Amino acid sequence: MSGATGHRRYETVEYNNKRYTVPVFDRDEGCVTIVPREGITVEHGPDDVLVNDLNVPFSMDRYKVPRRPLNCGVLDPWERSAFVAPSDARNVLDMPIKFPGSDFRLPMEYAQWASVVQRVADAEWALNKRCYDEYYCYMTLRRERVPKGGQGHYAPCHVDGFQGARWTPKVRTNHTYTITNALPTTYFVQPFDLSALDVAKHDVFWEMNRQVALTNSAHAWSDYPDFSLMLMDAYCVHIAMDAPEERDRVWLRFSFEVRQFDRLGNGHNPFFAYDWPMVPRDIEQLGLVPFDPTCDWTLRVFPYQREDGSRHPKGVYTVPNLRPRG
Ligand SMILES: [Fe+2]
Repeated sequence: MSGATGHRRYETVEYNNKRYTVPVFDRDEGCVTIVPREGITVEHGPDDVLVNDLNVPFSMDRYKVPRRPLNCGVLDPWERSAFVAPSDARNVLDMPIKFPGSDFRLPMEYAQWASVVQRVADAEWALNKRCYDEYYCYMTLRRERVPKGGQGHYAPCHVDGFQGARWTPKVRTNHTYTITNALPTTYFVQPFDLSALDVAKHDVFWEMNRQVALTNSAHAWSDYPDFSLMLMDAYCVHIAMDAPEERDRVWLRFSFEVRQFDRLGNGHNPFFAYDWPMVPRDIEQLGLVPFDPTCDWTLRVFPYQREDGSRHPKGVYTVPNLRPRG
């Protein structure tokens, strides 16, 4: 289905009870092109696991090593104003803004975040010059009003860029920059032992929730300022934070991947020539089961499900009990 709001076009796609509104961009509006600057550094320790693991193929064993995301810098005041400025920029999911070997191409609709993309390009060049040209970069923008006590776009403990059974052999691990003005992501800096799981059968994310609950969330970490550009990788288990009060949130994600993101619902960037077949895909269709079916039920259902698997009314979610001991 397709349509238009004002002069702007969009397409909607629906599958598995999900509905995506995908903005369609006009080449005539132009784009901002960005290349990394030389001489920028990102401070990190010599033994930073995250930095040392960049470009290594994905491995379940790496979850045993706790890792903290890296703060790559905080926006200047003028950038913060632009970051939260009201505009008609539309939310978009995993739209490629860089191809292997290319510059960054940001459709003009997102020009208010060009300085953020510049920071991402600079950080990536500083940290990963050797393999910089081998990655795609996908951008997600989500602007939303988060209600008091809510988490906006709700997701229990998970990672971005997990490589499940479909990916054999494994490819280079995803690394991702995120930035937000409010409600920073909470990370769990602890080891996860997933060695007994069969990834073709068990839901790994549910098991991450269970192992966080076993520690009573003792390793939860979100001690960084708003407007920080945070780098994580596919081993950084995280969750959205509850809103103590209603907040308008702007959240941007830049995922560096060697894979083509071909999920139906993702944004298409007309400033690159590509035509990938897009396919319906989500974790629900995999039919995975919990590794420990006896654990607290809130740790082994999707957010939209009740204990018996039936659907909550719209807007109601199951929240995993990650602090069972209070
Ligand atoms: Fe995430």
